[in-house]
Amino acid sequence: MSTPRIAVLISGRGSNMMSLIEAAAVPGFPGEIACVISNRPEAHGLVRAQACNIPTRAIDHTAFRDAAGKSDRIAFDAALDAALEEEQIDLVCLAGFMRLLTPGFTGKWAGRMINIHPALLPSFKGLHTHERALAEGVKIHGCTVHFVTPEMDVGPIIMQAAVPVLEGDDADTLGARVLAQEHVIYPAALRLVCEGRARIEGNVVRIDEFELAGHALVVPPAG
Ligand code: GAR
Repeated sequence: MSTPRIAVLISGRGSNMMSLIEAAAVPGFPGEIACVISNRPEAHGLVRAQACNIPTRAIDHTAFRDAAGKSDRIAFDAALDAALEEEQIDLVCLAGFMRLLTPGFTGKWAGRMINIHPALLPSFKGLHTHERALAEGVKIHGCTVHFVTPEMDVGPIIMQAAVPVLEGDDADTLGARVLAQEHVIYPAALRLVCEGRARIEGNVVRIDEFELAGHALVVPPAG
């Protein structure tokens, strides 16, 4: 199989995108970051990608409105899909892409699109995950890389990392501890997908010959 061409979709600062760009820049990585696309033209991640000589595109979702002036998700997703086809993309990585995608789009890219979520799914789907984890008093929190399905934050889980919730944590300190692990597991999960070693069986991902048993990775915090 030829090296998969990967698009990274972002909406903001792009720290996960950078972890993927840096991993893919190491010789021997089984995929190529072919472009970065943002739905927000002002996203700082676009500047960071350009500094790494990665082609970028901005597709401003606010420009897509129906006759009644409402956000036209189908038209936006069609433009996104056209850009991915133009760039001859094989795999899509959502990396802080804060936009719901339509079932038509997720269906077309099923098995070829992955996402990172800042919580241990299926707990804390959606937004403000660190605040909600603290409010629930959980003692373990973390992050998840999963295949994208039509329902938000639900698809088959490829890899997870857990971190402890510490006394005195606020959303910022806990979020920073989780983010450090996002930067570890996203490149690792992308590698498995590029190598065709993350096989979807129903709702579950089977990992072929992974060095750790199973598909869950628990990374202890530094220090
Ligand atoms: C990351 O924490 C990512 O997991 C989260 O947004 C942040 C983006 O940061 N994604 C979601 O919440 C998606 N539901 P980044 O732009 O620095 O990668």
